[in-house]
Amino acid sequence: MSKLAICPGSFDPITNGHIDIVKRSLRIFDEVIVAVAVNLKKKPLFPIEKRVQLIEESLKGLEKVRVEAFNGLLVDYVKKKGGVAIVRGLRAVSDFEYEMQMALMNRRLDSDVETVFMMPSEEYSFLSSTMIKEIASFGGSVKGLVPEPVEKALKEIFNF
Ligand code: PNS
Repeated sequence: MSKLAICPGSFDPITNGHIDIVKRSLRIFDEVIVAVAVNLKKKPLFPIEKRVQLIEESLKGLEKVRVEAFNGLLVDYVKKKGGVAIVRGLRAVSDFEYEMQMALMNRRLDSDVETVFMMPSEEYSFLSSTMIKEIASFGGSVKGLVPEPVEKALKEIFNF
């Protein structure tokens, strides 16, 4: 049976660290859906349609990957899609507490859904969307840290 993984996140915007995790997921799972959360606690820099579009452009050419927006509880979405696992990237110990909380809460909500953690390549282990936005907002270079469509979109917003 084909195994589907869901890679959920805010992706505001997608970084090369996220892409690294999606590619690693494809080594284990047959198919991956990159699931972009519509409702975020913080107001996003990029609206949902733009976040989805940037991911699609950034993952162009990768087979067995789809990009979708989702609303509501992640476990409900995973169930609806027939996913067997949630894949999350784990960069450092600092990620662990939040990730464990989320994984255990999701397990409580639906014990059929497993969470799998993967380490990104060490060159991306310090990378976050928040940091990318801050650097870009001050005109710093984000080259090599985000895919080209994202770099272009950031340049348009922050005029650098
Ligand atoms: O990239 P992020 O912001 O760390 O991703 C967090 C995300 C979107 C995966 C998480 O907030 C989420 O799953 N939101 C959907 C609502 C939900 O199911 N919340 C309960 C999680 S325990």
